[in-house]
Amino acid sequence: MSERASRKGRDPGSAVPGTLRWVGGPGGYLSLLDQTLLPGRVKFLRIRNMPVVIDAIQRLAVRGAPAIGVAAAYGMVLGLREEKLATPAAFKRSLAKVKKGLAESRPTAVNLFWSLERMSARAEELAARKLAPRDLLKALLQEALEIHEEDRSLCRAIGEHGGRLLRSGWSVLTHCNAGSLATGGMGTALAVIYCAVQGGKKIRVYADETRPLLQGARLTSWELNEAGIEVTVACDNAAASLMGSGQVQCVVVGADRIAANGDVANKIGTYGVAVLAREHGIPFYVAAPSTTFDPHTASGEEIPIEQREAAEVAEPFGSRSMPRGVGVYNPAFDVTPARYVTGFITEQGLLEAPYKRNIARLIRTSGTHG
Ligand code: MRU
Repeated sequence: MSERASRKGRDPGSAVPGTLRWVGGPGGYLSLLDQTLLPGRVKFLRIRNMPVVIDAIQRLAVRGAPAIGVAAAYGMVLGLREEKLATPAAFKRSLAKVKKGLAESRPTAVNLFWSLERMSARAEELAARKLAPRDLLKALLQEALEIHEEDRSLCRAIGEHGGRLLRSGWSVLTHCNAGSLATGGMGTALAVIYCAVQGGKKIRVYADETRPLLQGARLTSWELNEAGIEVTVACDNAAASLMGSGQVQCVVVGADRIAANGDVANKIGTYGVAVLAREHGIPFYVAAPSTTFDPHTASGEEIPIEQREAAEVAEPFGSRSMPRGVGVYNPAFDVTPARYVTGFITEQGLLEAPYKRNIARLIRTSGTHG
């Protein structure tokens, strides 16, 4: 552990106060750290209805695949709380409406759909038992809390497995933010770093700034710095230079969706980093829980890629950076072909090629896929 972290008595990875948290019982609210304001301001939103959850997901107040999944589970409780669930037919209609609303918030992170499927299956099961609406909501909140708690454990397990892969003295490059801000726990890619540091290894991190919304510069550097881990922000286009000059020994990133063949959708720019890592003989790991693997998507070509507003590029953070009237290409994610991935760090350990077979086995044995 770095001097700063141990001096503050902090547990790296828990230095950031809960990205999201349910407060109270079924009548309570979702407390969400508004990530759009970081690093300047730490402000928690108190969310009491579903449209605000959808808005928070769309404008990236909450972001990162696992955190979106957990937020959607709580969003479902909030959505159903507003509905009249008097008859089985009314319940069915409301459930479909709430699920559809949340499902349309963002298309790429599969954790969102995984979470909605699990919550709606549970809701149907409870409704079939003819539970009173009040008891149904209480049980559904319990399910959402369990999804959150499970994500915390998945993150910790990923961190412990991945931490063993890093050697003391290494500099690790990461892209976007796959840390405690992006999950219900200590993160995925950053959990690997937190656990390595907890294990006494000296690790330094290069955080790609991650254009256009700067998740690396604003979020990754913030949470690592809060945890006392040495972090340096580098412009996205500095990755080749860092690798070429021998300053990076390993790359670890998160994922939004991993297809059945191992192709990985993650923040735009990840693909380039993977190609660079291969060229320089640097291991490229993807850290993700089994809930981010999508057995229903055969390959990366089938992964829906979110296209975001031109203004995020043309007018980043309110300041115009290009002429008006010029076109903008702004996909939120890209797909890294499986052949560039050295291995997936999952809660079950390191998953290596052949990916199709080993991913199918992970799905079968994970206990997270029904
Ligand atoms: O658009 P974002 O900020 O939601 O994108 C997030 C990422 O790409 C993360 O790397 C991914 O969701 C993994 S988070 C553990």
